[in-house]
Amino acid sequence: MTPKPCIIDCDPGTDDAIALWLALASPELDVRLVTVAGGNVGLARTSANARAVIGLTGRTLPIVAGAERSLLADFRAEPAVHGQDGLGGVRLPEGPPLAPGVAADAIRAELRAAAPASVTVIGLGPVTNLALAFATEPALADRVAEIVLMSGAWTEGNITPAAEFNAWNDPEALSVLLNLGRPLAMATLDLTAQAFVTPDLVARMAERAGGACWRAALDILRALPASKRFGHRGFPLHDPCAIAWAIDPGLFGARPARCEMDLAAGPSRGRTVIDRWDRLGRPANLTLLETLDAERFFALLAERIAGLP
Ligand code: BDR
Ligand code: CA
Repeated sequence: MTPKPCIIDCDPGTDDAIALWLALASPELDVRLVTVAGGNVGLARTSANARAVIGLTGRTLPIVAGAERSLLADFRAEPAVHGQDGLGGVRLPEGPPLAPGVAADAIRAELRAAAPASVTVIGLGPVTNLALAFATEPALADRVAEIVLMSGAWTEGNITPAAEFNAWNDPEALSVLLNLGRPLAMATLDLTAQAFVTPDLVARMAERAGGACWRAALDILRALPASKRFGHRGFPLHDPCAIAWAIDPGLFGARPARCEMDLAAGPSRGRTVIDRWDRLGRPANLTLLETLDAERFFALLAERIAGLP
């Protein structure tokens, strides 16, 4: 098995942290670069969190900060879910310093040095950094094997009735990626709802022993607030779903679909209008992840992260 070279763009973020640990623990993926945007909390915090999360694994890889705001506006943070510190109050030792430079430049440099159709580009936050990289050097799209995003929804949103948080925070940037003409897989809210975490599940997972990363992941899972959308029974674990697709697509049911962004000002801005049943007869521009084998997903997550230092 040759590991897939990956770039991960993220905004840690509680579920981003768990997603990063899953990626770094998985031999299927060769994470070459992590870039950071503001999003769940401000950029200074998301960058510090990315450094701490990666630092805890003992791995050395470039972490580069980027967008402090979206292409057209300021990011809106989500402290009610992720806490003021972005990690639900779970304290980690300070990580290694950021690499110098700006995320979009680092993404372009990584892609320029790569073979055609070789890099898996994973977006776990507002995808401003990725859009800036491709908008400024579109020819680099041919280096992409697949873009994998946690973004959007085919039913209702979570930050507005219409829009999912990452899509809403930079809909123009998401539109750039949807129009890149490269394979793109999307884990929407409707998919991540199937990665549902309850207190019982966390208690069962906690029976497994592990290192500092596993203990911190469990602390984060205990800290995350139960969601009103799900009757306060638990919460969906979003971002690790995108990583799991890059590791093992066999965990998912998927179909090709067309996604158009609602970019208009107004109540449905940021909505991902997803044509699951080909009503518009337009070519598909993504692979829509529709179903998840949650049991196997959580088993993979636990086995892998528990194996980290
Ligand atoms: C997405 O929004 C963020 O709060 C999470 O990290 C995830 O990427 C879910 O809507
Ligand atoms: Ca995220």
